[in-house]
Amino acid sequence: MRLVVLVSGSGSNLQALLDASAAGAPFTVVAVGADRDGTLGAERARGAGVPVFVARVPDFDSRADWNRSLARLVAEHRPDVVVSAGFMKVLGPEVVDAFRILNTHPALLPSFPGAHGVRDALAHGVTVTGCTCHWVDAGVDTGPIVDQRAVRVLADDTEASLHERIKVAERAMLVEVLTALAEDRSWR
Ligand code: GRF
Repeated sequence: MRLVVLVSGSGSNLQALLDASAAGAPFTVVAVGADRDGTLGAERARGAGVPVFVARVPDFDSRADWNRSLARLVAEHRPDVVVSAGFMKVLGPEVVDAFRILNTHPALLPSFPGAHGVRDALAHGVTVTGCTCHWVDAGVDTGPIVDQRAVRVLADDTEASLHERIKVAERAMLVEVLTALAEDRSWR
């Protein structure tokens, strides 16, 4: 199964996919796309010999133009599934309607959607949070849920410490979901 992975940051979820693929998982990261220059995610991809493309919103006249360009760049790599793994941009219909896109989110949706899922869960005082893998639709973190993992909040957690533990669960979840998808198993 061919994956195009979209990243904005450190790309540790991407790294988990690259590692799993190298270890024989039934998927291949055929390209990585970023919305900004200089991401560690892009560096990880290049280190693994995976082509990288960058589409920066400020380089385009409109958000729709950016979406169309992103869709073209993704399509060049003929993905079976696009993985949004820490991609900090809301995708428009030009992209959403063109591909099957999985997103990973660091909270138990439908609680705490948006860019600050970890911070918002902590501020709310929940004792359990986690991560969610879901199909992307036109909304923000609203699409059909594929899998979730629970993570307990510890009394002395900071946003950073909690996010690190969530990301451990998130990476395992993503690899398992994509493996199941590639093997055409029913995973829920
Ligand atoms: C993940 O927790 C993802 O859910 C969130 O940003 C983080 C990305 O981590 N949106 P990384 O770039 O894969 O390390």
